Amino acid sequence: MSSPYWRQTGAIWPMGVPTSLTWYDIGALLTLLHIFDVRLIVEIGVEHGGASAVFAARCRYLPECQYHGIDITLDQLDDSVQRLDGERIYRRNAWLSQTVDEVAQWMRESAGAVLIFCDGGDKPKELHLYAPLLRSGDVLVGHDYGNEYQEQAIADIALDRISADWLDDTLLCAWRAA
Ligand SMILES: C[S@@+](CC[C@H](N)C(=O)[O-])C[C@H]1O[C@@H](n2cnc3c(N)ncnc32)[C@H](O)[C@@H]1O
Repeated sequence: MSSPYWRQTGAIWPMGVPTSLTWYDIGALLTLLHIFDVRLIVEIGVEHGGASAVFAARCRYLPECQYHGIDITLDQLDDSVQRLDGERIYRRNAWLSQTVDEVAQWMRESAGAVLIFCDGGDKPKELHLYAPLLRSGDVLVGHDYGNEYQEQAIADIALDRISADWLDDTLLCAWRAA
C-alpha cells in the first residue's frame, strides 16, 4: 500500500488529537496490548496526547486496565486530553532515577502485564533505563526505530525480542520478558 496515511508519522489522528505514531504503529501497539493482555500502559513522552487518548480510551472499556503518561513538559498537551485524562499524565523527567523508581512503584501496584512505551527525547536511553524493570510477561516498546536510531543502539537489551509481520512496517522495536 503506497498511501502515506499508513507509514507517515502524524498523518492520522485517531481521536482527533495529534500523535507522532503512524497508523501501522497504532495497530501494532493495540495488537501487543491485546495479545499480551496488558493491564498497565506507561507512555514516556506524551506531547499533545494523541496516543494517550487511544490508550486511555481502551482503559475506559477495560476497567482492569490503567494508563499513566509522563512528559518533561505538559505545555503541548491538548486541552481535551488534559480535561479527560490529565490526572493520569504527569510532568516528570523520564531520565531521572526518581521517575524510574516511580514507574517501578506503579508496576508493583498493578496486577498483570505492563507495557512501557518509550517515545520521549532519547528512545535508546529510555529503553535501557526502563528495561531492567520488566518482570515476566511485561512488554517494552520503543518508537522511531529505524528513523532516529538503528539496531546497534538497542542490540544489548537483554529481553526476548518480539518479531512479527505486523511489526515489520512499523517504527517500533519490542521485547517481552520471559
Ligand atoms: C515524539 S513526542 C511524543 C509523542 C506521543 N507519544 C504521541 O505518540 O503522540 C516526544 C515527547 O517526549 C518528551 N520528552 C523529551 N525528553 C523527555 C524526558 N527526559 N522525560 C520525559 N519526556 C520527555 C517531549 O517533551 C515530547 O513531548
